[in-house]
Amino acid sequence: MPYFIRSYSNMSSPSPALATRLEAARAVVHDAAQMAMAMRPPPGGPQASQKSAQDWLTETDGAVEAFIANRMKTLFPDDGFQGEEGGVARTGSLRWVVDPIDGTSNYARGRCRWCISLGLLDGDEPVAGVIDAPALGEVYTALRGYGAFLNGKRIQASPVKDPASSMIEMGWSNRVPKPVFMEKMDAIMAMGTMPRSGGCGALALADVASGRLDGYIEIVINLWDVAAALPLLAEAGARVSPFLQEGGLTGPATIMAVNPHIAQALSKAVSIPLA
Ligand code: IPD
Repeated sequence: MPYFIRSYSNMSSPSPALATRLEAARAVVHDAAQMAMAMRPPPGGPQASQKSAQDWLTETDGAVEAFIANRMKTLFPDDGFQGEEGGVARTGSLRWVVDPIDGTSNYARGRCRWCISLGLLDGDEPVAGVIDAPALGEVYTALRGYGAFLNGKRIQASPVKDPASSMIEMGWSNRVPKPVFMEKMDAIMAMGTMPRSGGCGALALADVASGRLDGYIEIVINLWDVAAALPLLAEAGARVSPFLQEGGLTGPATIMAVNPHIAQALSKAVSIPLA
């Protein structure tokens, strides 16, 4: 029984085309997550190759992406499909965007903080998302207009108003010049926030949606890292920077997601606009 559908019971019905796709995505990502768990390296040094400095690739990334691409092609042959590893495989007005393993640096060392992230866009609008973190036993789902859920329970952005009580994560990759990273981190810490950096952008954004974090910033990030999280954040009442409008649909861009109470203060501190 797809538990997330039950959450719609007190609302008007979502479009059958989107509801069917969310249900299918949930099932396909669940199967992919089982595959990733079976292939997961044990704790230890990274079992992976490097695409570039500290940018890791495992056999599982390719296997999971191929599995999801094939299943989606069979289920929805007219839908577009884009993956982190394979790029744009198919085009369509509805299109899937997958990060087969987000948090590969964690996955490759047998750590738990990684996920499979599958988002659905209608044209340029993110409309649905599934983020499955099997090593954590957590599944996030969202459908635009119908709420954001963690393991079937509704989530929302945190109520924290005082930056001095807040926790903010900043993502790192080799694409960010060190002085820029340090400048933003300095600005965040000057607000009195508690800093974090956990190596999985999709789960950090999901943490903002669930209230586990008050904000997440990544200076250079890609659509496949955020496509599933964007509908979650919108449905959870978080504020987000204009990632898609600033080039995120076609290339790397900056993202900031933040609870609505400290959004203005964080935006000002790090000089990143809100949408
Ligand atoms: C990376 C992770 C990391 C973020 C990077 C991403 P990957 O994705 O989300 O947290 O800082 O920008 O590229 O390589 O593990 O799929």
